[in-house]
Amino acid sequence: MPIAPVQLEPFARHHIGGMLDWFPTAEALAQWGGTGLRFPLDAMQLEAMLASTLGEAPERWMFAGTVGGSLAGHAQIALDWENGVGRLARVAVNPTFRGQGLADPFLRQVVTRFFADARFERLELNVYTFNTAAIRTYLKLGFVEEGVRRSSAKVGDVRWDTALYGMLRSDLPATALIQNGKPT
Ligand SMILES: CC(C)(COP(=O)(O)OP(=O)(O)OC[C@H]1O[C@@H](n2cnc3c(N)ncnc32)[C@H](O)[C@@H]1OP(=O)(O)O)[C@@H](O)C(=O)NCCC(=O)NCCS
Repeated sequence: MPIAPVQLEPFARHHIGGMLDWFPTAEALAQWGGTGLRFPLDAMQLEAMLASTLGEAPERWMFAGTVGGSLAGHAQIALDWENGVGRLARVAVNPTFRGQGLADPFLRQVVTRFFADARFERLELNVYTFNTAAIRTYLKLGFVEEGVRRSSAKVGDVRWDTALYGMLRSDLPATALIQNGKPT
């Protein structure tokens, strides 16, 4: 279990410096953020993502998970407002906090926050099929595998398979959006 409760907050500019050293290789960066990012991760790329969180119907939401004030987790949800669909993406736990069961309580709060908005019906995600720690986490949260896009990513000279997972509002247990007796 994590050493202290993980606190969910909007990812903000002051968090950026706390995650620039989380992905030590181009492969680790692609595993986290897909093949469209430039290695190494820098503030400019995170600033550009933050810019897309602005406005009435933003392109994405970004979340920070903090433990005792330290940045311990990061996640994003790309938002398709027209179809009421979100894509959970760029999930990471700070390497110094990995292997302590932190991803589950962090992402549970992210999922709850997403479905608290009645406009959204479906949350999906892509994950490379070798990423056992991520897949175990997503299955435990209630995501269901919906298929595999074979050989869909090119990282250096290697090709990776991508699995698609999804969760519908109707998959959630009735109590999932209730905390402290109130809808979240
Ligand atoms: C995926 C990630 C977020 C998981 O976070 P975490 O807090 O370290 O995960 P946990 O400690 O809760 O472990 C999750 C599960 O994976 C297992 N696991 C952890 N590390 C593992 C490893 N290296 N190999 C296989 N299984 C592993 C755990 O036993 C646990 O399974 P269980 O609950 O059935 O026992 C974290 O490893 C990470 O940031 N990875 C790099 C970025 C990334 O790949 N993001 C996902 C993009 S889709």
